[in-house]
This record gives sequence, structure tokens and C-alpha cells, in this order.
Amino acid sequence: MAASMAAGGGAVTRLLLGAPGGCGSARRGASARQVGPGGAGPGGVNVVFIDRSGRRIPVQGRVGEDVLRLAQRHNIELEGACEASLACSTCHVYVSQELVDKLPVPDEREEDMLDLAPQLQENSRLGCQIILTKELEGAEFTLPKITRNFYVDGHVPKPH
Ligand code: FES
Repeated sequence: MAASMAAGGGAVTRLLLGAPGGCGSARRGASARQVGPGGAGPGGVNVVFIDRSGRRIPVQGRVGEDVLRLAQRHNIELEGACEASLACSTCHVYVSQELVDKLPVPDEREEDMLDLAPQLQENSRLGCQIILTKELEGAEFTLPKITRNFYVDGHVPKPH
């Protein structure tokens, strides 16, 4: 049931980790990118992606939208090779510590896929399984430096 942590060697129960009070405070005052039709308004949730180069990208998502789709809508390099069917780990993100405590505990299928993600950390989650709520206002999602693509030729599928 519990996923073992790939990085660092030893098996660690993810459910026991995630002590409150970590780093990762949301930056206030950054303007979010405009969203397309149906976005923003009272259902809007402002979050920040931190890309592989460390660039902070504030965006506004919609309540009910998953983090993978939000990233793809803003051309942020989060792959999502299996299109949210829990068959890959290419939507791997690190979530800010406060968010670890706000999100529902990952289910067993998400844990299994996370076990395949390189550079797994205790705050690792699959972006396609994080559904935006108002409670996630100010959340930060950091892209890991690498992902494991299951295409041998390096092909990156386009969302559709
Ligand atoms: Fe494959 Fe999220 S896109 S598990």
C-alpha cells in the first residue's frame, strides 16, 4: 500500500511524511495569466508553476480542473503521456508543503505510479490527480528536473 521512496534509497511510508510548516509560501501580488473561455471569475484559482529552469509562472485555473490540464492549457511543459489514465508518471510534480496537508491522500494507483517517477520526494504527486479547489489558492507546483517518458524515441504527445 504505501509507496517506497525511490530517491534516497530507504523505504518510507508516504502517509507518515509531510510534517506541517514546511517551505513553499505562495508569492502574492504576481499577476496570473489570462485563461480562456470558462475560466477565471468566482471559480478561479490562482496557482504558480515553477518550471525546470526555476521560472515562476503564475496562472489561473478553474475549480474542478486538474493540474495537468491547467499546465497544458498554459503551455507549461508537463507531459501527461497517458492523458490522466494513471498509467505513467510524466505528470509528476512537487507540491508545496502546505498543499501536501490540504490534498487528499493519494490512492494506491497513484502511489504505484509515483513509485516509477524519478527523483521522487515526499511531496511528490501526479498532476492529473490534483483537482483544483478554492482551498488550493496560492499553491505552487514545481516540475521535477526529469521525467520518465515511456516513448523510446523521446516523442512527447500533444494534448487533445
Ligand atoms: Fe499519466 Fe498523470 S498523465 S498518470
